[in-house]
Amino acid sequence: MSFSFPKRLPLARTPTPMQFLGRVSADLGGPRIWIKRDDLTGSALSGNKIRKLEFTVAQALEEGCDTLITCGGVQSNHCRATAIVAAQLGLHCCLVLREDAVPTPDGNLLLDYLAGANVQTVSKSEYVRNLSGLFAHWQDWYAARGHKAFVIPTGASDEIGVWGYIAACQELKQDFNEQGITPSSIIVATGSGGTQAGLTAGAALFDLGARVTGIAVCDSGAYFQRKVRDDLEHWLSRYRVDFSLDQLDIHTNAEFIGPGYGIAGPEVYETIRYLGRREGILLDPVYTGKAFHGLLELIKGGDFAGETDVVFVHTGGIFGLYPHRGNLIPNENRP
Ligand SMILES: Cc1ncc(COP(=O)(O)O)c(C=O)c1O
Repeated sequence: MSFSFPKRLPLARTPTPMQFLGRVSADLGGPRIWIKRDDLTGSALSGNKIRKLEFTVAQALEEGCDTLITCGGVQSNHCRATAIVAAQLGLHCCLVLREDAVPTPDGNLLLDYLAGANVQTVSKSEYVRNLSGLFAHWQDWYAARGHKAFVIPTGASDEIGVWGYIAACQELKQDFNEQGITPSSIIVATGSGGTQAGLTAGAALFDLGARVTGIAVCDSGAYFQRKVRDDLEHWLSRYRVDFSLDQLDIHTNAEFIGPGYGIAGPEVYETIRYLGRREGILLDPVYTGKAFHGLLELIKGGDFAGETDVVFVHTGGIFGLYPHRGNLIPNENRP
């Protein structure tokens, strides 16, 4: 297979470490669990989104844009990463954030403000009904002031953003060689599908020999099967890659969504505390906490029986911990 990557800005601190979770693996008695530390792609830029933005923002600059517009939940990691990148590159940034209540400047939202983003909160109903209208409104608003705005879709999950995790698979190949492992499974949190799409295609392109499972944190398994395939179909029609989607195993598990997007059950908070005290690694309640909890449950249920090594991709989200502080401190430690 021959292909070349499109233009890319070096924004993420890569390669990130591949770390063995010795104590957790021993606790479970299943396959060895490895963690790809994409929570360490940066400080304010930490997490998976920055790998996608390397390609997305390169495209925006190529098109002569000086403004980035994007959207998400009020605590969106993607919006925070976009706001910080914009500030680092001297671009304007407008964030359309979904929130019914008066938002508290906490976690990611606090950082959005510190990065000087034009933060626009809209009700959930308007967001669902009129997102493209809101994008068009803000594009016109910037155009009237002499600026050219580039619209980045939810989570930068589109045919450009998928390159981020296709490129990450090249890095994973190197990690596997260095560690002398051939993992059978790669597990990741899925929120808008682009990370899973990139990993699924990248695992095939770089012949990783591992099945990628996205653990959904919202929507449904059927939705993500479609979304991942759509992103990859658009990717294939935009870029010249000799690749077929026919044999691709797109695999999403929607058993661990819990009460809904951004709402975690007690088992997720317990998993976050467990990994914190057992390995000194911090998860978030919206994405990685749910996905890692799912991984532990699947191992306990024997889903990986006979497998030697599995890899969890830690996609970041640290700032999303803070607004959940009330659920994270065990009763005995409360002041
Ligand atoms: C911390 C974190 N992990 C995982 C995801 C899921 O990635 P994707 O939106 O590409 O499915 C996101 C964003 O949605 C995220 O912010």
